[in-house]
Amino acid sequence: MRDWDPELYNRFRSYRAQPFGAILARLELDPDETIVDFGCGSGENTIELARRAPHGRALGIDSSPAMIERAGAGKAALPAELGARVEFRLGDIAAPALPERFSLVFSNAALHWVSDHRQTLAAWHRLLRPAGKLVVQMPANYEETAQVTLTRLAAEPQWRTELGGVKVASARVRSPAYYARLLDDLGFVDVDCYYQTFAHPMKGPHEVLEWSRATVLRPFLEALTEARRQAFIAQWRRRLEQAYGTDGPLTFNFRRIFLWARRKDD
Ligand SMILES: C[S@@+](CC[C@H](N)C(=O)[O-])C[C@H]1O[C@@H](n2cnc3c(N)ncnc32)[C@H](O)[C@@H]1O
Repeated sequence: MRDWDPELYNRFRSYRAQPFGAILARLELDPDETIVDFGCGSGENTIELARRAPHGRALGIDSSPAMIERAGAGKAALPAELGARVEFRLGDIAAPALPERFSLVFSNAALHWVSDHRQTLAAWHRLLRPAGKLVVQMPANYEETAQVTLTRLAAEPQWRTELGGVKVASARVRSPAYYARLLDDLGFVDVDCYYQTFAHPMKGPHEVLEWSRATVLRPFLEALTEARRQAFIAQWRRRLEQAYGTDGPLTFNFRRIFLWARRKDD
């Protein structure tokens, strides 16, 4: 798949930052925390976590060269003391080959891009020190109007040949009860899994489309030729206007799932 576009992804930065804000409001960080941020993207969250653990370190892992390059530029602009405690590496979060152990495994808006959540969460469990914390957030909005209309359109006869096999990434995200059982099975304790919905005012369906271009729409556009892409986008925009009942302001309700747990103390 074509690489991520950090510029496009960060266009709605204030909205995309809200779930991280919700995590920070609850997360207790020790001053010497050792943190891995899986799917760190352009690295802002990784840096903020390191800033809040003044004697700790934070490592961001991402498979996107463009994102890691952007994160590296962010690190280079930091005061030397903070920059020295932050590191970014290219890597696959589904199969992390890391020799070190961490006191916090963190992942914001990335695990839904990975197909096997059991295997990945088991790998992340192995990377935690005893009593280490796990904090994960993923979109769980596959029943929201934008995702439903996108999936329906892609399944229609004129698109099915190219897009029939393409799924919205959040379709693989399961319920809080599912993750609670899974984390318990994997040996985590103090498990807490729940949904939280964020209300994002948008100027119109065209902004929902812009938001989606950076994420959910990527695999769909990737499967189309340039000419077909424009036609698909135009049709989806019309569907969004019909489904939201407006071409003007609307509230984009974005449900997310949060997973909190801790590795047992040995
Ligand atoms: C929606 S962005 C989230 C970025 C960042 N965590 C944030 O909250 O702003 C998802 C990121 O996950 C990364 N990603 C997806 N699958 C991955 C994989 N298998 N291994 C490493 N990174 C992955 C993408 O490259 C992208 O940067």
